[in-house]
Formats: sequence, structure tokens, C-alpha cells
Amino acid sequence: MPGDKSISHRALMLCAIAEGESVVTGLLQGEDCKATLAALRAMGVRVDVVDQSTLRIQGAGMHGLTEPTTILDMGNSGTAMRLFSGLLCGQPFTTVLAGDESLMRRPMARVIEPLARMGAEIDSHNGLPPLTVRGGRRLTGIHYALPVASAQVKSAILLAGLYADGETSVLEPAPTRDHTERMLQFLGVSLQAENGRIRMPGPQVVRAADIDVPGDLSSAAFIMLAALIAENCEVHLERVGMNPTRHGVVEILRRMGAAIEIDGCKAKGVEAVADVRVRSSRLRGIDVDPALVSLAIDEFPVLFVAAAAAEGDTRFAGIGELRVKESDRISAMAEGLRKLGIAVQESDDGALIEGGAFAGGVVDSHGDHRVAMSLAVAGTIARSPVTVLDTDAVGTSFPGFVECMRAVGADIYAYQP
Ligand code: S3P
Repeated sequence: MPGDKSISHRALMLCAIAEGESVVTGLLQGEDCKATLAALRAMGVRVDVVDQSTLRIQGAGMHGLTEPTTILDMGNSGTAMRLFSGLLCGQPFTTVLAGDESLMRRPMARVIEPLARMGAEIDSHNGLPPLTVRGGRRLTGIHYALPVASAQVKSAILLAGLYADGETSVLEPAPTRDHTERMLQFLGVSLQAENGRIRMPGPQVVRAADIDVPGDLSSAAFIMLAALIAENCEVHLERVGMNPTRHGVVEILRRMGAAIEIDGCKAKGVEAVADVRVRSSRLRGIDVDPALVSLAIDEFPVLFVAAAAAEGDTRFAGIGELRVKESDRISAMAEGLRKLGIAVQESDDGALIEGGAFAGGVVDSHGDHRVAMSLAVAGTIARSPVTVLDTDAVGTSFPGFVECMRAVGADIYAYQP
């Protein structure tokens, strides 16, 4: 599996401000992480390519980044934009963060508001990018209860907290991915996480260490579902990240009847990894537990396909955040599945999907990588071919998706019309 996207962003950013040299292996070669890397290089960070997924990063130190001469282009990546907002408000210079059409529509007030309370000054266009992060402000730690469960917002606050005077603490309404907390601790930062509250004294120094990025469970989910809904199929996936705050997709699929075995789960530096073994299974519809939503936040497009392929109805509730991802994922998936003959009822923050059989047809990804890959997986068991339009964004998180699907036996190819 390609390297984990969330962990790759964090490894790049934290090693860039660390004291000393780090070697990062297993990095995702996707467009999102390339945007983060390019931004760091534009701020003077020296990065040498060891091989395709291994970089040697000379940490610039906490105060060693330099003012970029251009706007920083975050591409399609909400993670890059939100985490950099936190990191850059602690620098002595001003930066401008912009992105592609999808990113320019995504809400940034959720990071601007807490960072402003810390003393940062960030200009936006009514809460939308581009963001102008005015550096040189004195930051002070805050105690902040997150209004939405968001690892990106939590991480932005913690990154700013590294540069702030006094304690920063964040209270989460539901557990979200904790890669930032783990990596900060691994890199020598003192921080406590207990009962949904993270406390970190500031200011602090990040110390260099080598990081091995595990495979991305969110990318693995597409291959896992393709195997589950195929006939007589068994697929093994190696060194997949098994962080418990990302595990919701495995739990939900298992509750739907999926045969998924996790072998030899072991901690590897910052994160746990395991091999995953998936066998064809008869899936049945369930009411998805809202408590699992934040633990599977990126897997709902592929879980919609699981629901459509299952016997009976599946109800999703409490998934309103999907409407502000790379696309409005509830409506993009509902539209795509309906085109393939599946009955879907949408609500503001949920969906009811009736299991059925996929017809073929032409569906639109709305430029969203996970919608594109999910609908392609549906195509593997459709009665006639499925064509997914506008799939360039697949390269943001899963370059090599088509080749990987072919390797497990799918009849799929990419072409330029
Ligand atoms: C991410 C957090 C999630 C997730 C995104 C990656 C991260 O976003 O959807 O793909 O790396 O922190 P939110 O924090 O907005 O839920």
C-alpha cells in the first residue's frame, strides 16, 4: 500500500522544523504530500531524495524556516493548508496559502478562529482561502474545546502551540486520528493525552528522528472492498497502518459481515502496522454506529459502495462533515450510486442506502479522489462497464491505484479521452 497520507504530511512538516537530520521512509508519493514538500523547500528546508519514498530532511530548527518568495500552493490538500496555518503563524514572516478549485471552497474559519485566539493573524475571504498568515505575532497557549471533531484543527492548534507561551490544550468531542500527538511525542515533545484532552506546554523544541511511514489504511480500504465483493477472492495487504483512531472502517465492515483478519499487529516506531487478509464475504446492511464516524471519516465513500453491495438497508447518521471534504461526498456518492441503479436517500447529515445490483454507466467523481476510487470499485461487480469521469485527483492519495486494482484481478484501465 502507498504510504499513509496523514502521517506523511506530519513527518515532512515536523522533520522540517526539527533540530537535526531525519530520514523518512515509506512516504506517500501523492500530489498532496508533494505540495507540502514543495512548500517546505520554498521556505529553505533542505531535502535530499534517497529513493522514491525515502527522503533525508535537514531540519531547519524551530526558527530556521525562511520567507518564501511566492504563494504556497497546497494543491488539493486540506491537511496541508490547515496544518501549515498552525505552523506558519509561529514564524516571523508572512505567507500566503492557496490551492486548487476544490480547496478554495473549503472552510478555514475552523482553524482561523482558535489560532486568532492564540494571537495569530490570518486573513481569509469570509473564511475561505487564500489565507494570509501574518507572522511575527506573539502566541499564547489556549484551552480549546473543538466544536467539530477534526484532526486537522487539533493539529493546527498543537503546531501553533509549539511556538506559544504557556499550556495549549484541546478537548475533542470525539476521538480523531492522533498521528500528530504520537509523532510530536516521538520527536521529543512533552505532551499528555487523556480522556479526549491533549495538553502541551509551550514553547517546545522538536528533535529529529527517523520515521517509517506505514501503508495507508484509507487507501487499503478500496482494495479490501474490491476483494470483499468479488467472488472467490482473497487478498493480503502488507504493512498497513493500524492506528486505533483510524480503525473504524475495519469495525464497520466486520459488522456488515466482512471477513477481515489482522495479522501480527506491531508497533513500529510511531505507529502500529499489520498485515491484512481479506476474503470474499456476503455483506449485510446495518445501522452504522455514529460513534465510529470520526474513526472512519475518509472511508464513507467506499462504505457507501459496501452498503450498496450488501443485502438489505444501511443507515449512516452523523456524517455531515462529509459535505465539506474534497467534494460534498454525500451528494457526490448518492448521485454516482443512483446512476448505477442503487436507491439512496440523502439527509443533511446522513444517508439510507438500499443494497442492490450495480448497472453500468458513466459517473462523475466531482474531482474527488475517494469518490473516483469508490465508484471504480463498484464497477468491478457492475453488470456492464462503469466509466468514472474526472479521475486525475486519484494521484493525490493513491498513485498506482489502477495498477494495484489490476494486480488483484480487476479489469480496469485509465485513459485520456
Ligand atoms: C486528516 C483529517 C481528516 C481527514 C483528512 C486527513 C488529517 O480531516 O478527513 O483526509 O490528516 O488530519 P478533518 O480533520 O477535517 O476531519
